Amino acid sequence: MTIELLPQKNGPQISKYIYGQFSEHLGNGIYGSLYVGKDSDIPNVNGMHTDVVDALKKIHVPVLRWPGGLFADTYHWMDGIGPKDNRKKIVNTNWGDVTENNHFGTHEYFELLKQLGADAYINANIGSGTVQEMAEWVEYMTMPGESPMANLRRQNGRENPWKVKFFGIGNESWGGGGNMRPEYYSDVYRQYQTFLPQYDKDHPIYKVACGPNEDDYNWTDTVMKYAGQYLDGISLHYYTLPKGTWGQSKGDATGFPESEWDSTMTRAKHMDELITKHATIMDRYDPDKRVNLIVDEWGTWFNVEKGTNPGFLHQQNTIRDAMVAAINLNIFQKHADRVYMANIAQMVNVLQAMILTKGDQMLKTPTYYVFDMYQKHMNAELVEGVGDVPENVTYTASRKNGELTISICNYDAHENQTVEFSGLADLKEVTSAKILTAGTLDAHNTFENPDNVVEADFKGAHLNDHQLQLALPSKSVVTVTLK
Ligand code: AHR
Repeated sequence: MTIELLPQKNGPQISKYIYGQFSEHLGNGIYGSLYVGKDSDIPNVNGMHTDVVDALKKIHVPVLRWPGGLFADTYHWMDGIGPKDNRKKIVNTNWGDVTENNHFGTHEYFELLKQLGADAYINANIGSGTVQEMAEWVEYMTMPGESPMANLRRQNGRENPWKVKFFGIGNESWGGGGNMRPEYYSDVYRQYQTFLPQYDKDHPIYKVACGPNEDDYNWTDTVMKYAGQYLDGISLHYYTLPKGTWGQSKGDATGFPESEWDSTMTRAKHMDELITKHATIMDRYDPDKRVNLIVDEWGTWFNVEKGTNPGFLHQQNTIRDAMVAAINLNIFQKHADRVYMANIAQMVNVLQAMILTKGDQMLKTPTYYVFDMYQKHMNAELVEGVGDVPENVTYTASRKNGELTISICNYDAHENQTVEFSGLADLKEVTSAKILTAGTLDAHNTFENPDNVVEADFKGAHLNDHQLQLALPSKSVVTVTLK
């Protein structure tokens, strides 16, 4: 089958923020993994786990959403500043009722961002926090001159303001963030955003409203109608559940039947329909596409690993997760005209993670390698294609700096596929070709065998007479760059 790429058609720019991450105060998502504290035996820089940060730096995390999630609507930021011994110990009521000592707070978050080279995406507490509390947090973080909160920041050791790029006002306000109706939430959003201080007039903080849960189109319609003019982005949450329901068993991360491979692929592809339909509603209120769709929670959600705290959402990550990542990233790129940011849940140890840790050990998951292989698409121009795509194959293509990058995923459990690309008249050579694949449906990395599923050089790419032929094994993700 041949796909003709249409490089002469100028596509939208693929925002680098589509490759965003999310870390919540949840289980081992931050404590003991990303953040180990300065006094830890685990090698660290200012408390941040060196190996973990080094691995994440290689995938150039563009933005990190924090502190939740559901945790955000119980988080009182003042608990997390000042000398660590004085910080309030609270109960994390959403995630296992464990003690939260608030040792990772605003200063630690910005230290982590600095080490990663990532931008900030803070989610405010509008569920149990006041307008004043939110406004003062932004003052604390971003006020350059004299003010009570800026002075408090200085007292705590930080002279200059930080940059807050994105700011979420509400998380799942239709559920755990307040059980609000969309009409009510729209008014709450309007109120809170009114008091969001914008000290840097040249670089205003980008405001993200709480958007729909999955296919709640009425939520999108209502929020766009009543609050659309006051927001820059509206979020969407959609998780890939093998069984498609939030019932008792979601399905296991490993050792699952082949039927759950298939249903997982089907559920992952559903993201395309959700974005298309929500974007169509947005088009009615915002035909110029000023407002973006922000998919700030996505990824697989399985049963927790046996013997782990059910509130910690700890799951293994297999070649199946890699397929889900590729399918979703291809969809986000296809919708680059609306989708400006996406944040996979979550970066370390929670749900569909990039990294798993155990003590001082860490491993990179198959999902990590997909993010690694897709890096060239960041801020590139989307290239559209026409032609038949084989069943169970999805691809995306983009151009940047005279290079064309194609990422393609054959998520068939058994069948290999050969795919050809034409429309490559100005391209002379394959400069890089990588593959991630595995022999079994649940192949994964363990601390004993951390390199079981890793990215490798791909030998199945052949450019002849301006036609690129790719021989794709089953269960594979391939990225090829040409120039
Ligand atoms: O990512 C885990 C949780 O899923 C988040 O806290 C919440 O927003 C969502 O329900």
